[in-house]
Amino acid sequence: EPEIIRNKQQMRNWSRSMRAQGKTIGLVPTMGYLHQGHLSLITEAQKHTQLIVVSIYVNPGQFSANEDLSTYPSDFQGDIEKLKSIPNGVDVVFNPQNLYDYGVERERSGGNKREKEGGIVSCLEDEGRGGIGHETWIRVERLEKGMCGKSRPVFFRGVATVVAKLFNIVEPDVAVFGKKDYQQWRIIQRMVRDLDFAVKVIGSEMIRDEDGLAMSSRNVHLSPQERGQALSISRSLFEAKSAAKRGITVCSELRRSVIESIEAAGGKIDYIEIVDQETLEAVEEMKSGVVLCVAAWFGKVRLIDNMEIHV
Ligand code: PAJ
Repeated sequence: EPEIIRNKQQMRNWSRSMRAQGKTIGLVPTMGYLHQGHLSLITEAQKHTQLIVVSIYVNPGQFSANEDLSTYPSDFQGDIEKLKSIPNGVDVVFNPQNLYDYGVERERSGGNKREKEGGIVSCLEDEGRGGIGHETWIRVERLEKGMCGKSRPVFFRGVATVVAKLFNIVEPDVAVFGKKDYQQWRIIQRMVRDLDFAVKVIGSEMIRDEDGLAMSSRNVHLSPQERGQALSISRSLFEAKSAAKRGITVCSELRRSVIESIEAAGGKIDYIEIVDQETLEAVEEMKSGVVLCVAAWFGKVRLIDNMEIHV
């Protein structure tokens, strides 16, 4: 049975006392509605540390006003059951109510109505209105510019900031992120290097459903028909990979065939990019160490996927 901790200070106290006993701590940050992809990160973390903390927190700071914060799926009890089923288990589930509640400071500053309502203004809205709730953000400037950062301009600053907060609260030795969210993983890796966090970041392989669809909490929102259409993403990525291996090295050609397959299936493309795996800058000619990244809409659901290609 994992211990459930909901309070920042209790979380920090737990970590500090474990560390004082010489234990190492691995952190797996999630937004819950757990699936096999999340569980695989825990299995990976177990290879590196003695104790495992899984955080479950739907971070309002990474959603903009027009995004799906209010419909983001959750099933806390179901999550706990899944975590119990993992061999060797999880030690703590950190499930804070509101990571942006700085009660004491708010009171001291007197506060206006918005402040007293609590919580973060999670969207572009709060830009330039310093002093409301929370005003410190981490930006990994170059890596966050492209791909998901283009259509979701506040997403990565929200991710980097909440992960930094979790690192400061949990003080893990190791943190594991999925390569499913490739750009997110690279951004966290870079933040840790640039800000000297004493955390080792590990990228863990993506888990797919048997039919190829990349596992995601958001898949639950796909209708059966959309789910069938969405298989065009993984299918076209696998096809592009084998085309690259057959010697098609012009990226524009590979991109075009992925675009055509997804659009033919009824998807609406956000982006298709072939980028260097480290810099995330677009490449024109295939080489070793590139990743083909996709984001596309099926109905109201935005899905992302990617394929590492080594030619
Ligand atoms: P969430 O989407 O819940 O994902 C939590 C972690 O699980 C991330 O590291 C993500 O890359 C990984 N993951 C999701 N689907 C996966 C799959 N099919 N295979 C392998 N890993 C997978 O990503 C977030 O939450 C948030 O942005 C977070 C990092 C928690 C910050 O709020």
